[in-house]
Amino acid sequence: MNHIWVLFLAHVVLSTVATEVHESGELLNTAEVCQYMQCVEDGSKLSLKFNETMWKQFSEQLNTTFDLNTWNWSKLDDLVQENRTFEVVFNGLETLHVHILQGHGSVTTLNLDNNQIAMVENEAFANFKALMTLSLRGNMITVVNDFVYNPNMLQHLDLASNRINDIKGLKTYTLSHLTYLNLSHNLIKSIGTELSKLEALETLDLSRNAIKRREKPIILPKNLQQLLLHNNELTTWPFETVPETLTDLSLGFNQINLTKEATNVRRLDLSYNRLASFCGECFPSLEELDLSGNYLEALPRFGNQPTRLRKISFNRMPNLQSIERSTFQGVTEQLHELEISFCPQLTTIEFHAFADLKELKRLDLSYNALQQVPENMVNWNQIEQGVNLQGNPINCACSMQWLVDRVIPAMHSKRELHKLFPNLRCAQPAIYKDHLIVHLTVHDNLMCRKYQEMDLPGMETVVQLMKEHRQMQFVRAQQIILAALICGIILEGVSAELGVACALPAGPPVPIGLARSLSGSKSSSSKLELVVSSVIRSRDSSFTGGVVLPVVAPDVDAGKSGVSPL
Ligand SMILES: *[C@@H]1O[C@H](CO)[C@@H](O)[C@H](O)[C@H]1NC(C)=O
Ligand SMILES: *[C@@H]1O[C@H](CO)[C@@H](O)[C@H](O)[C@H]1NC(C)=O
Ligand SMILES: *[C@@H]1O[C@H](CO)[C@@H](O)[C@H](O)[C@H]1NC(C)=O
Ligand SMILES: *[C@@H]1O[C@H](CO)[C@@H](O)[C@H](O)[C@H]1NC(C)=O
Ligand SMILES: *[C@@H]1O[C@H](CO)[C@@H](O)[C@H](O)[C@H]1NC(C)=O
Ligand SMILES: *[C@@H]1O[C@H](CO)[C@@H](O)[C@H](O)[C@H]1NC(C)=O
Repeated sequence: MNHIWVLFLAHVVLSTVATEVHESGELLNTAEVCQYMQCVEDGSKLSLKFNETMWKQFSEQLNTTFDLNTWNWSKLDDLVQENRTFEVVFNGLETLHVHILQGHGSVTTLNLDNNQIAMVENEAFANFKALMTLSLRGNMITVVNDFVYNPNMLQHLDLASNRINDIKGLKTYTLSHLTYLNLSHNLIKSIGTELSKLEALETLDLSRNAIKRREKPIILPKNLQQLLLHNNELTTWPFETVPETLTDLSLGFNQINLTKEATNVRRLDLSYNRLASFCGECFPSLEELDLSGNYLEALPRFGNQPTRLRKISFNRMPNLQSIERSTFQGVTEQLHELEISFCPQLTTIEFHAFADLKELKRLDLSYNALQQVPENMVNWNQIEQGVNLQGNPINCACSMQWLVDRVIPAMHSKRELHKLFPNLRCAQPAIYKDHLIVHLTVHDNLMCRKYQEMDLPGMETVVQLMKEHRQMQFVRAQQIILAALICGIILEGVSAELGVACALPAGPPVPIGLARSLSGSKSSSSKLELVVSSVIRSRDSSFTGGVVLPVVAPDVDAGKSGVSPL
């Protein structure tokens, strides 16, 4: 009797010691497998990763290449601990065919990514009774077999980036705990009822395959929450119904031309399809909607009910021309983010278009064809993350002076909004073409002033008057420059000492000083710009705005001609 007690006590002591050794991690240093696998302990997780370099060093005595199919998994016995997840990783091997592995009953995660595996035997992983995660990404598998034993604990199966074209097996195999299945980047052509038995499945990734809808609709597992079907070849809505649990649906980059109801979907991506219209009422639970890259001519209406929409992306719409106020009236109170960018025909935004969006925090209107926008389109102060108007061909006319007077200074005071300045430029009128609008704040009321009102030092002696229609004067400018050039040359050569003004062919005389200063330059307006701006700079060193003010068409006042004879 005593004998047994002693043995029992000894056992308790020994196992306690053993546990301590485990905890101190010493075992990881001494275990043989850790000589060719990188053993890392992280809290309640132990991870063993095969390392080719270490294996070569280790196997010099043995002189063998590593063979997954014959490797003795009992070598892991020493490392087993209760309640610890146990991950084993073999990557980068050349294992074309996986036979039935001896396996290990304590391994919870098996990662066999990137091993050139083309064929996996039925029940190859049947001996991994505790397996919860199996990853076979980046191999060359074509058929999904019944890899695991029944019953199994498998929750997470990753088969992405293989050559799978046959998933019929998934219909008959029992994977009653499977919650995650990744079949993206494969060669699947159609899906019918194959997945309907995966009752625990929550996340299903079928993106980047070649799935078309055949005659029959796709039947989805009944508890599915997230479905990714983007980058396939669907030409129509692929389901008859979707499960009530489905909240995330990604159908981008297909050729879908109509939609059907999905009452509980919250995030819907239909970007880059062939939709000409969108049924706003079909998705009453929507919070995020991406309709970019479709053929809608107007933003959709979202019914008469207030919606929960928080974000709408409506970019790259080739047919969108205007945004009407009625689109957002009263129904999209929660909207935080709105993107309408890269729409090449979008020229009009109605008064108060976004004014009803009380929660709007970010408005992206960049790279459209907007020449102007109404000041009252939005409540500028409420938009924390700013209104992005970059890349639009803004007409910097007097009607947009409010932008420079009120919006830009407010944006300027918030550093995080400065990123919205670099491509916020004028496209018109010609004098401000390509100028940063933020620089036009240097002078008061700049867009509304005529040139003669400008009080830039030195300006008045160079240019006395500007025409009203500035942008029309480009051609005339070139005529004048040409004439001035000729005139200057003549004056230089012949009649400089006479001190007479040179009459231009189609306009009043030009001061000789200007003609002379131009005579050395080529007849291009950019040169003229340079000359004039350098005059401005040299006359007044306090002009530090950093803006080169262009000058177009020096239309010369006849009354002041004849000054500065040579
Ligand atoms: C393999 O182990 C060597 C030496 O321990 C290390 O330098 C190398 O980065 C490891 N290789 C990988 C792929 O982790
Ligand atoms: C290792 O194997 C190769 C051929 O597989 C052989 O040529 C070589 O002699 C072997 N080295 C040792 C140390 O056994
Ligand atoms: C694996 O190794 C254990 C000892 O660690 C041994 O008992 C067992 O027979 C080996 N199994 C195979 C298949 O070689
Ligand atoms: C393992 O987990 C079970 C259930 O959570 C618990 O009863 C047991 O004490 C744990 N064992 C260890 C060694 O932590
Ligand atoms: C599935 O795998 C692909 C390819 O590696 C990856 O990009 C994607 O994020 C995965 N899907 C999910 C839902 O995790
Ligand atoms: C959608 O496209 C199919 C052909 O792919 C066509 O038969 C059908 O009329 C289209 N439906 C709509 C609503 O445009």
